[in-house]
Amino acid sequence: MKRNILVIPGDGIGPEVTTWGKAVLEQIGKDFGHEFTFDQALMGHVAIEATGSPLPDETLEKAKASDAILFGAVGHAKYDNDPSAKVRPEQGLLKIRKELGLYANLRPIMLFDELLDASSLKPEILRGTDILFFRELTGDVYFGEKNRSEDRNTASDLMIYHRYEVERIATKAFEAAQARNKRLCSVDKANVLEASRLWREVVQELSKQYPDVETEHMFIDNAAMQLVKNPKKFDVVLTANLFGDILTDEASQIAGSMGMLASASVGDGTGFFEPIHGSAHDIAGQDKANPLASILSVALMLEISFGLKEEAKKITDAIDKTLKNGYRTGDIADANTDKAKILGTQAMGQKVLEYL
Ligand code: NAD
Ligand code: IPM
Ligand code: MN
Repeated sequence: MKRNILVIPGDGIGPEVTTWGKAVLEQIGKDFGHEFTFDQALMGHVAIEATGSPLPDETLEKAKASDAILFGAVGHAKYDNDPSAKVRPEQGLLKIRKELGLYANLRPIMLFDELLDASSLKPEILRGTDILFFRELTGDVYFGEKNRSEDRNTASDLMIYHRYEVERIATKAFEAAQARNKRLCSVDKANVLEASRLWREVVQELSKQYPDVETEHMFIDNAAMQLVKNPKKFDVVLTANLFGDILTDEASQIAGSMGMLASASVGDGTGFFEPIHGSAHDIAGQDKANPLASILSVALMLEISFGLKEEAKKITDAIDKTLKNGYRTGDIADANTDKAKILGTQAMGQKVLEYL
């Protein structure tokens, strides 16, 4: 198979972890006889520094022309602490999602048994959890009209959904539920928000076409609680952009760390694969970041964009072996971890390559 992959490392720990996602792809290419070629492009703070724009035209053109995209993270402390900044790294990410029509963000909560003790939650609560989040990615309060009054004392972001936006992501989620355990939980705030009432209406209507799927509706506040009380009760979770953003950071603690959660953004065109975490200024440049979320994103790319299931399984197996042999980055180490086996980003990436 011949495929061209665009790598967008971005900011902070983005480049540190993406290096290992790419290295694993190169190794898989060699082992299975696939011709993977790579190109690289700028996005985020590094792009603003180089071109003035968080998403240069060149990056967008390369993205549209590629077969899949491996992304790291964007963000810089400079902007986080300056609410008045007009040009921001995150705008690049939002724009590329919109331009590529990446309306469905799949975030699997994949639990490696070896990490049951790495979580802040009790192992008996976690064991057996397997959730697939469908987070809507190109609508909601993220893309609604923004306003700030002239006197700067009033601000608003419009929460807006169109029927077709809910329908297309819900369809994907129902199809996934059919192929899994036939349970779908749609999360909204329909007791308060009109946009959520449209969401619930559309999901209710669509559910009639999937009588084999047990559909449940839950309010976001309750869902946030149920997720840590009894995560096993969830199979496919369907939710809006902002709710999905927040719920999946929470759910990362089921898997042990933010450094373990990968995601696939899909829709109209090229697939986009990225860890759910950000640029993590607090650990950037210190060889501390967990590269497994980036490596797992590559496994999602192989399976979803290229249909290479065996290759994807080889990657998750290599991670499994790495963890079974006791190797950990700091974020997933626990009291029983052999101190000599707590590795930095580089050594952890290298270990996965060895087991591959
Ligand atoms: P973050 O995800 O960057 O970090 C949250 C916490 O998780 C930090 O303590 C960090 O050290 C830890 N963490 C994250 N990834 C890790 C990894 N791979 N290994 C070990 N620990 C890891 O979120 P934040 O601190 O709220 O945001 C930092 C910057 O990143 C902000 O500028 C924000 O806008 C941006 N951000 C970008 C993305 C993205 O590009 N997709 C996602 C979230 C946040
Ligand atoms: C994510 C991030 C982004 C989001 C930000 C950086 C725009 O938090 O990918 O989860 O909110 O979608
Ligand atoms: Mn997020």
